[in-house]
Amino acid sequence: MSSNSHTDETETAEGAEREHLLPDSRQAHGADPALADDPFADPGLEPHEPRRQDIDERAARRSERTVAFLFTLSMLATVGFIASYVAIDIDRIVYIWPFGHTSGLNFALGLTLGLALFCIGAGAIHWARTLMSDEEVPEERHAVEATPEVKAHVLEEFRKGAAESQFGRRKLIRRTMYGALGLVPLSGLVLLRDLGPLPEDKLRHTAWREGSLIINDTTLQPLRPEDITVGSLTQAMPEGLDPHAEDFHSEIAKAAVMLVRLEPEDIRDERSAEWGHEGILCFSKICTHIGCPATLYEQQTHHALCPCHQSTFDLADGARVLFGPAGHPLPQLRITVNEDGYLQALGDFEEPPGPSFWERG
Ligand code: FES
Repeated sequence: MSSNSHTDETETAEGAEREHLLPDSRQAHGADPALADDPFADPGLEPHEPRRQDIDERAARRSERTVAFLFTLSMLATVGFIASYVAIDIDRIVYIWPFGHTSGLNFALGLTLGLALFCIGAGAIHWARTLMSDEEVPEERHAVEATPEVKAHVLEEFRKGAAESQFGRRKLIRRTMYGALGLVPLSGLVLLRDLGPLPEDKLRHTAWREGSLIINDTTLQPLRPEDITVGSLTQAMPEGLDPHAEDFHSEIAKAAVMLVRLEPEDIRDERSAEWGHEGILCFSKICTHIGCPATLYEQQTHHALCPCHQSTFDLADGARVLFGPAGHPLPQLRITVNEDGYLQALGDFEEPPGPSFWERG
């Protein structure tokens, strides 16, 4: 008897402790027996707590002024952006800690535009948090699973459809249908043949031959050394490619080149200098990543940039990859000048131009 009463006391104490640990919301709904039995029951919404701005008009006005201040600051920043754009010289370099020397115009534009956008965002958030209605409204969801009646109905309909189609009775139809469904995927397999024929060594050779004149790909005129000035980049192709020929695009995709002229003392790669002519260097312009034209040229640094994924090649150092996903340097074409004074190739590229994938094939 005394042991039973001890057990009851212990359970009562544990129950009180469990009740104490319930979240406030559950305690608020403590009268609901479903919540006491089911720890995962929907606890419902917490009682609505009005914000300070909901009950104090002065606080609401303060919030209104804060939001208006942020929006006004944004307007001023936008005016500052336009004024900076008009007033600051594009070449002006300023020292700004901790960035160091930087373009004054870019810095001012970034700062003012950033401030204008930030203030609009901050004003909108403050407005929403303090003044807009914060009433919580539950959205009821319906059960996803179909009711047993619906399931039974669907099953019944399916059986009825199968019986009406006579699928079970008509063996001939059933077997030929299996055959048709089994064979139809073969069409897809047969189409795989169109992936061929294998390229064999076509990707290893281009239209460049010993003695091919180097043609400006815009004017279609052969180039002379004096046409290539220091700091410029000229895009070119081999003579003999007919833009109207059927294979023109597949040939130019391998043979397109770019010519730059550097001061001889700026060329750091000895072999690259030897393969050029008086500082004129001729590189494949097909990026060795996945084949975009890498023809954004920075004349001060002699870097060629591929716009697709920003691979950067140092043309003063054998087109070495400085940055980006490209796997190897742009191949260089050996060039010289013929007796008529025109630039010409001394042969094909010594390695396949374009994505380095082909080198491993
Ligand atoms: S194709 Fe040039 S970096 Fe990707």
